[in-house]
Amino acid sequence: MTDDPIVYLNGEFLPISQARIPVLDRGFIYGDGVYEVIPVYRRAPFRMPHHLARLQHSLDGIRLANPMTNDAWDALVRDLCARQPFDDQSVYLQVTRGVAKRDHAFPKGVAPTVFMMSNPLALPSREQVEHGVAVVTAEDNRWLRCDLKTTSLLGNVLMRQKAADVGAVECVMFRDGHLTEASASNVLIVRAGVIVAPPKDNQILPGITYDATHEFAREAGMPMEVRAVTRDEALSADEMWLSSSTKEVLAVTTLDGKPFGGGVPGPMFRRMYQAFQQHKPAAARRA
Ligand code: PDD
Repeated sequence: MTDDPIVYLNGEFLPISQARIPVLDRGFIYGDGVYEVIPVYRRAPFRMPHHLARLQHSLDGIRLANPMTNDAWDALVRDLCARQPFDDQSVYLQVTRGVAKRDHAFPKGVAPTVFMMSNPLALPSREQVEHGVAVVTAEDNRWLRCDLKTTSLLGNVLMRQKAADVGAVECVMFRDGHLTEASASNVLIVRAGVIVAPPKDNQILPGITYDATHEFAREAGMPMEVRAVTRDEALSADEMWLSSSTKEVLAVTTLDGKPFGGGVPGPMFRRMYQAFQQHKPAAARRA
């Protein structure tokens, strides 16, 4: 049944309607936790080792011990996927610092909360792929550990809402005159035939899809540079792309209400989109 799907909570599989956490969970009180979103094609997780490595990076960043080995995570994700009635999935997993009396400092001897659910993978529509999508822009006012995939997402939530308010899919952000990322995706641009992406530093999430685009670009012989991108360069780019586990790659064709990049997805986007489609089932089988 998809209206009451099976989820995983602290060692148990159960229908989501029965999954409960105590109100003192630090995920609820402080957003004190980390998460991952893993795309699953034909029941095979895509780039699972990369997602588990980033999970470890996020856990290390918030000083929370990993409650499971990578093999145990891998088995659990596959088990959860096997319990869903659909093949293409988006697995969400979350680890919080557990349940404790409210006090900012870490509690001692508390078990983390581990939650996982899987939804049908809602990839962009054909229309979005063919015609591109609209974004708005804003000054990035989030904290300076955007490399950690934490559940404290209020900054991202507010940015995404700025986009939603005007019917756009994303909010592309700039900090100190440089491109960072969007509220739930990475941003890459194309200038004079070269793909340019901001470096994976503390100001952006090290996207698994971002890395995939680099690999696919290398294989396809598409020139690519990783370096800081100024606002002017981004706003006058030939193409702008969004990348994420649930969007794959998407072209930006409207920016702040005006046509961008000629108002149609560019030739480099089309090549990258093709490369992505060719790689994904094979990569999913390999993972
Ligand atoms: N978001 N930057 C931010 C802020 C993100 O939230 C995401 C992904 C990305 C892209 O990362 P990846 O390619 O690994 O999905 C970049 C997920 C999908 C989410 O929060 O739902």
